[in-house]
Amino acid sequence: MDGRFGLIGRSLVHSYSPRIHAMLGKYEYRLYEMPEENVCSFLRSSGLDGMNVTIPYKKNVVQFIDELSADARAAGSVNTVVRRPDGTLFGDNTDIYGISELIRSVAGNNIAGMKALVLGSGGASAAAVRALSSAGARPVVISRSGENGYSDIEKHSGATLLINATPVGMYPDTGKSPVDLTRLPGLRYVIDMIYNPEKTALLLQADSLGLKNAGGLLMLVAQAARSSELFTGRKLPEDTVASVAKHLAAQIRAGIDPHADLPVIRLLVINGPNLNMLGIREPAIYGNKTYADLVDFIGRRAVGLSDANGAVVFAECFQSNHEGAIVDKIQEAYGTADGIVINPAAYTHTSVAILDALKAVALPAAEVHISDVNSREAFRKVSYAGMACLRTVAGYGFDGYGMAMEFLKDYVMRTGNQ
Ligand code: DQA
Repeated sequence: MDGRFGLIGRSLVHSYSPRIHAMLGKYEYRLYEMPEENVCSFLRSSGLDGMNVTIPYKKNVVQFIDELSADARAAGSVNTVVRRPDGTLFGDNTDIYGISELIRSVAGNNIAGMKALVLGSGGASAAAVRALSSAGARPVVISRSGENGYSDIEKHSGATLLINATPVGMYPDTGKSPVDLTRLPGLRYVIDMIYNPEKTALLLQADSLGLKNAGGLLMLVAQAARSSELFTGRKLPEDTVASVAKHLAAQIRAGIDPHADLPVIRLLVINGPNLNMLGIREPAIYGNKTYADLVDFIGRRAVGLSDANGAVVFAECFQSNHEGAIVDKIQEAYGTADGIVINPAAYTHTSVAILDALKAVALPAAEVHISDVNSREAFRKVSYAGMACLRTVAGYGFDGYGMAMEFLKDYVMRTGNQ
């Protein structure tokens, strides 16, 4: 456990944050609903190591913070508070990072000079404007009361990107759209900061016009990921945000309520040397599918193993050709994962270091081999890593990973170790 964290707000029943944070790491993360007059004393004396802050308190908390990040100062609002060892409070605004990541995923890395319309003038709009300005884009705020309104939005036909930072179209008012996109023929990218529903009316229209678009789920996950890094002091792997967002969207589509208080079982799936060459290497033995296909398969199996009445399974994938990097990753799993699925590949037959790492962290582990190692050369029958694993699955191709994941899920559920 990395500490105790949580979310402060007035009404939090609709929050996805506990689920997202449970996928990001193994730390306590709870919801704390409170009236405004309790926020100050809660910040000072809750005993939590860090907090997220949500509507309507993001601006109010600024006055209680000892040091603000540049983003928090610029936005005049805080969504992440970290209690430092000396007891002082550090405040950041990771929504800006979140929207930057979402913009990057849709419009790419180079948006310098791009004209971007931001609908709405609240806190979400301020975060989008800051993110756009920092990246060198030219944001224009469209609002009902400001200098640029909706009635003559055509005058901004030179805009390439549009971001909806209003609540129009949000569940349960899903049919509504803040603007008719045909009025802006120069647009190429459309972003909706709303994440429920996954596809708002605005995004459905963007689809029908062939415009690249995305909803707000990635932003929600990215801001949580940056908060998580500030909370734990631990850098998350680069692909975490995308994989958590994809997993969460798949859970929702599978009917697993994102608000339900379900345990999340975090599995780390490690693949050793040459498995990045799947699809190319010896297809007669390893098949034609690639490593990317394997990652995809593991993600889908994790969602398949999650159930609305039991637990959510989340799998992080890691591949390396280097023994030391695999040892480091196994060590990182201590305190951050509930179980390890490992295909140590050629290191299976040589590496005492990987065996010792698995023994050191003492997490439930299952060994997988795509091929049937026992019916191949004699040296493949030796497995060092296997000596620290509860189960070995060999010869079932990608399905073997699914079998190992299911075994570990059941094991963790049975032993109550998560
Ligand atoms: C493997 C089997 C190992 O013997 C071999 O070195 C690999 C892949 C498998 O998945 O079948 O690289 O672990």
